[in-house]
Amino acid sequence: MNRYRASASTLAALSVAAALTFAMPSAQSPTPEAQRFFPKADLMKIGVYYYPEQWPESQWERDLRKMSDLGFEFTHFGEFAWAFLEPSDGKFDFAWLDRAVDLAARAGLKVILCTPTPCPPAWLGEKYPEIYLVGGDGRRMEHGARANGSLANDIFVRFTKRIVAELGRRYGQDPRVWGWQLDNEPYGPADYSPSARLKFQSWLERTYGTAEKMNAAWGGNFWSTKYDSFAQVLIPNEGLFGEDSLSPHAVLDFHRFTADTQAEYLHLQYDILRGLVRPEQWITTNYMNVTDSADPRRTDRLDFISFTMYPVRGEKNLGQLGFRLGNPWRLAMAVDYFRSFKGVMELQPGQVNWARTNPQPEPGAVRMWLWHAFGGGLSFACTYRFRQPLYGSELYHAGIVGPDGVTPSRGGLEFARTIAEMKELRKLYDPAARMPERIAARRTAFLWSHDVMWDLEAHKQTALWNTWDHRFKLMAAIKAAGAPLDYIGEADNFSAYPFLVAPAYQLVDEALVAKWTLYVEGGGHLILTCRTGQKTKSGQLPERPWAGLIAPLVGAEVELFDCLLEGDKGVVRMDGQGYAWRTWADVLKPVGATETLAVYADQFYAGKAAVVTRKLGGGTVTYIGADTIDGLLERDVLRLVYERSGAGPASYPPGVYVEWRDGFFVAVNYSSRPFAVPVEPGARIILGTNPLRPADVLIWR
Ligand code: GAL
Repeated sequence: MNRYRASASTLAALSVAAALTFAMPSAQSPTPEAQRFFPKADLMKIGVYYYPEQWPESQWERDLRKMSDLGFEFTHFGEFAWAFLEPSDGKFDFAWLDRAVDLAARAGLKVILCTPTPCPPAWLGEKYPEIYLVGGDGRRMEHGARANGSLANDIFVRFTKRIVAELGRRYGQDPRVWGWQLDNEPYGPADYSPSARLKFQSWLERTYGTAEKMNAAWGGNFWSTKYDSFAQVLIPNEGLFGEDSLSPHAVLDFHRFTADTQAEYLHLQYDILRGLVRPEQWITTNYMNVTDSADPRRTDRLDFISFTMYPVRGEKNLGQLGFRLGNPWRLAMAVDYFRSFKGVMELQPGQVNWARTNPQPEPGAVRMWLWHAFGGGLSFACTYRFRQPLYGSELYHAGIVGPDGVTPSRGGLEFARTIAEMKELRKLYDPAARMPERIAARRTAFLWSHDVMWDLEAHKQTALWNTWDHRFKLMAAIKAAGAPLDYIGEADNFSAYPFLVAPAYQLVDEALVAKWTLYVEGGGHLILTCRTGQKTKSGQLPERPWAGLIAPLVGAEVELFDCLLEGDKGVVRMDGQGYAWRTWADVLKPVGATETLAVYADQFYAGKAAVVTRKLGGGTVTYIGADTIDGLLERDVLRLVYERSGAGPASYPPGVYVEWRDGFFVAVNYSSRPFAVPVEPGARIILGTNPLRPADVLIWR
């Protein structure tokens, strides 16, 4: 399965520190809706997956007791058990699950139940082979793995509804059940089945109304690609034509349709359960972090959303120990992205089986990830899985206990230790704690859009462009400044943040530009990067000068853009320092009072502006035209914006994160070197030692 694309090389090269200010209310809080399920005084609860159907029933009680003895507070059953819950068409068997839930409750564990829809049973596929999704190569999936159902297929949806309703009726009023997980790692698979094609046609009809309007949005006059009716429309298939031949506008719409179909499938499960379960039971799903295809923001009916996280996966990351400490950007991004939604549903317990190479995590890393999740504001962390499997494709995957079923693994002991520490920390919880003003003053929002990412990725212009890397560079710059970071969408309130970063925000309309303008006039500091504002929302060029939609706001024109060859470098100069770039450079021409902060040092446009800034009303707009190789220009420009506006930024090295949460400062270290964390005089260290070693945690207040 495609787990989160981002090139390890660029990320490893990142070396960032940045800064910012503005007096603002305290950190983004979880949605009040979601918070009601998780008393704040519990800080973060920790639990673990168990698959009763995979073990002899005679061992269940022993296993669940052991789980509880290790300190776990909840368990998680059933996401892949459709063949056991409905052994034949319409015949349900819940007796085994009843017994498992009962034993869990007796062991003092709350239970998360799952809908088993990633795993349609063999009888269902045998009877209705059309329930399987079809790949771009025209091949239909079959029984024997998971995540193979077509979410656009009405029969699959009908059987989904029935099993979900049966589960809701059976357990919806059961106080032993804490909450629900829908499906598993919804990833928005591209589906080329006949059912998906029909659904795509209806989606287009709902979106455009007439084929003429769709043709206009898709540029149908180009190469006679227009359609006479929706019924003729084919799914744009990159496998057949390649991305530079197809209409990028059609490809963008297929991404939108796929993400909407995924969201609709989850919403329909949600609605069924919500009608059957007690208000105290929450309903979520566990996104595979933030992936290219599924868009968590589209599932806004769920009580909250959670994510899965496997930091050690055969990548080099930062420094010598990086391959054992884990990817330093992913969990950092996820806690900020998902914070308002509450939890991590799967946090790696040890070695995994599915990466190209599967190293052991560094001793301490599992505990560090847990504390990082805590510092990032999460209310629960769960791990996959209690027992190491003895059979199946994941038998090399670590569990909390090893293959004998009783001996805790290294990761298991780190979980147990962290749970014990968490229980101690709860005693120090102070409901009156407020985020210190100097931290709140740096609050930064990151404008996130899957649509923009799809468009950039489908129509890159240079194969070297990588949207994830670009976004990570900006994220790293913000985190290095110790700025509390929230990922927000276009509909959110920008003015709650003194700083707003919109990286390569290519698709805009007049409404968004007007909203940005109001934000800046009202005192906000807006930072835009290359490619921003160059296209309309359907991915077309507006009939204006290049980037004409945002030129008046930026106070500069984009004269031209350039892309270099693999291995080559161009240089941007700022304050006497050189910064290397390769993938993208917008060459800028400032207008009026706009100030040039950096210029290109070579190429035929040497001396022209690369970074500009201007004041507007009470705020500023800064445009960074080059995507640099190591993100250092982005870091230094952000630092300048923070400093000029009066925010006193911190300066943390790459891989060191310092978070504030509920009165506690939490520092973790993914770098391979010790770091002396600047702790305020008079602060009380609660956990750990300073300097902070790699794979360790420091908590103070
Ligand atoms: C996750 C998945 C789990 C399990 C795990 C193994 O992505 O949701 O079911 O397969 O990976 O690391």
